[in-house]
Amino acid sequence: MNTIQKIIFGNAMSMTEISDKSIHLIVTSPPYFNAPFDYKDLFKNYEQYLGVIRKMAKEAYRVLQQGRIFALNIDDMLVNGEKYPITADAIKIFQNVGFRYRDKIVWKKPDGYLRISKRSGVLLQNPYPMYFYPDNLLESIIIFQKGKFNYRSISMEIREKSKIDKKEFQQNNWHKTIWEITNVLPDSKLEKGVAAFPDELPYRLIKLFSYIGETVLDPFAGSGTTMKVAKQLGRNSIGIEIIRDLESIIRKKVNCDSLTVIERNKGKYRFVTLDYIENKKKEI
Ligand SMILES: C[S@@+](CC[C@H](N)C(=O)[O-])C[C@H]1O[C@@H](n2cnc3c(N)ncnc32)[C@H](O)[C@@H]1O
Repeated sequence: MNTIQKIIFGNAMSMTEISDKSIHLIVTSPPYFNAPFDYKDLFKNYEQYLGVIRKMAKEAYRVLQQGRIFALNIDDMLVNGEKYPITADAIKIFQNVGFRYRDKIVWKKPDGYLRISKRSGVLLQNPYPMYFYPDNLLESIIIFQKGKFNYRSISMEIREKSKIDKKEFQQNNWHKTIWEITNVLPDSKLEKGVAAFPDELPYRLIKLFSYIGETVLDPFAGSGTTMKVAKQLGRNSIGIEIIRDLESIIRKKVNCDSLTVIERNKGKYRFVTLDYIENKKKEI
């Protein structure tokens, strides 16, 4: 099936290239507020971070078709000993721009997930009360909907072509609010410098919430995982990404000769670079 894959280099706070109600599904994982390993000091403060989420959510509501889904992979973030309630704040922001908060799925990583330092080690070194810091194995996938979906708007042919394999649905436990999915390993080449999610995450969401031939948007495209899976599943995709250097990674990952690249404000815009992110990490 011929599909179109497009990447826009720019800030997801505006989606001017995308017309109203032209998107059928949004799957994304925004940067987590100043995440120590990935985005240290990227935002001046928490309010600035929430401002980005608010503007992006507003634009997302505009470009999404009636009845369609925004799946947001996000979680609360621990920065300098303080947990920021990103999930709750994002839910409120999305509700305020008009979305209906429909569901929350918990993504559980394998028990051996060791990327972030083992916080529980503190108690092992000091086996006394008040030294408890749990290891976090969870993230959230928040499902929002824009109004009601008209099931009759889809032709019988497209419905059949997009049919979900009931065996896969049941055997792989898609039906539960906990999804056990192995995370991308920290040393995987294509995702270096990007906190990528595993293919399986957009795979399930795209199958469950879009029909073949439709268009999936990822406003924080990163290495292009959503775009790659959308293409594999016969969907068109649009990504937005602020790091200009990621084009070659996205090209490799999406494996698409005809990737359309749009660079917003060519020459004028100060893009964040991978070096900048790498240097931030060295400061830790
Ligand atoms: C958590 S990563 C997404 C990773 C992606 N899901 C993947 O699998 O590769 C978030 C991405 O958002 C990008 N980003 C941060 N702020 C942005 C903004 N305002 N507009 C567009 N992209 C942004 C970051 O550069 C990063 O690549």
